[in-house]
Amino acid sequence: MNGRIARLAQKPVLRKVASSSSAVSELVARYVAGHDVGELMPVLQSLTSKGLLVSVAYLGDRVSDLEQAAANERVYLDIVRRLGEDELVSGAELSLRFSRLGQRLGAEANQFALDSARRICRAANNAGVHVTVDMSDSASADAVLQNWGKLQQDFPATGITLQSALYRTHQDLHDLALPKHRIRICKGGYREDKKIAFRDPHEIDLAFVRDLRSLLGTQAEALIATHDPRMIAVAEELIRRTGRAPDSFEFQMLYGIRPWEQRRLADIGYRSRVLVPFGPGWYDYYTERLAERPAGLALFARSLIRKR
Ligand code: FDA
Repeated sequence: MNGRIARLAQKPVLRKVASSSSAVSELVARYVAGHDVGELMPVLQSLTSKGLLVSVAYLGDRVSDLEQAAANERVYLDIVRRLGEDELVSGAELSLRFSRLGQRLGAEANQFALDSARRICRAANNAGVHVTVDMSDSASADAVLQNWGKLQQDFPATGITLQSALYRTHQDLHDLALPKHRIRICKGGYREDKKIAFRDPHEIDLAFVRDLRSLLGTQAEALIATHDPRMIAVAEELIRRTGRAPDSFEFQMLYGIRPWEQRRLADIGYRSRVLVPFGPGWYDYYTERLAERPAGLALFARSLIRKR
């Protein structure tokens, strides 16, 4: 991730101008499915009508107290209820972030986050919705993995995300990619210290290939989260070689990024899932994507100054 762009995006004035610009809203709508569940559902229906599976990520405001965490739990429960009721959206997944449930606010709040995640998983179980836990930066990796481990005792199908950029992931995969476990592997969206993580894109690619090989060689369910055409080609080759059953893996990509590739994978018979983000925290999500891929920066800058 480009640190300078990420820091610039945090300037309050930029956030204020972007939040009130309709040109920016139009641009962001390609990547974020609205502000509330009402706006989200038609986007999900449109994707599933094209043979795609969906995963929902709620972009809440930053959580600074337990009241906000409880409000986020209510949103997660509402999403699960709507997904369960909607016959047009089957096999959906919820991407759950412990930090949105207060996990980073201290030990007591972490317990609240875990209890809250249990209530969400119970509701998801009843509604036929999968749950996969997102991974934040490395500072909270141990806490997230511990919470996932506890959650998984009651809800074994709950997935976890691992990031190939971290040196520890190879060992984590070895320990966690057990039969029936649902493991999402991605490159990792955070720029970490070189003491604990690869930073060179080529090294991250090599680590991702190594992790793909090791994950696809296990009996865990493999969720392959990447847009990178080279990584997808490697995954397809490994799937062929290992003779993986079609329901034992899936490709996952973010809404609005390489949509034609998402469709291609579905058209040739693979499970292809689109992670669809929505909610009031769209600005941070969108600018994080820009920092990952600065090519979109010029368009964003033009939208900021365009009067509508
Ligand atoms: P890479 O960044 O090398 O991009 C490969 C190609 O994809 C680019 O050349 C371009 O064509 C396209 N592309 C990628 N990003 C783009 C963008 N923003 N705009 C336009 N094109 C773009 N991370 C994390 O730390 N914790 C998590 O829990 C998750 N969860 C997660 C779930 C899912 C379903 C996905 C797809 C991704 C995540 N990630 C994540 C993010 C992940 O770690 C990573 O940052 C992004 O997927 C980008 O990495 P790629 O593998 O796509 O490669």
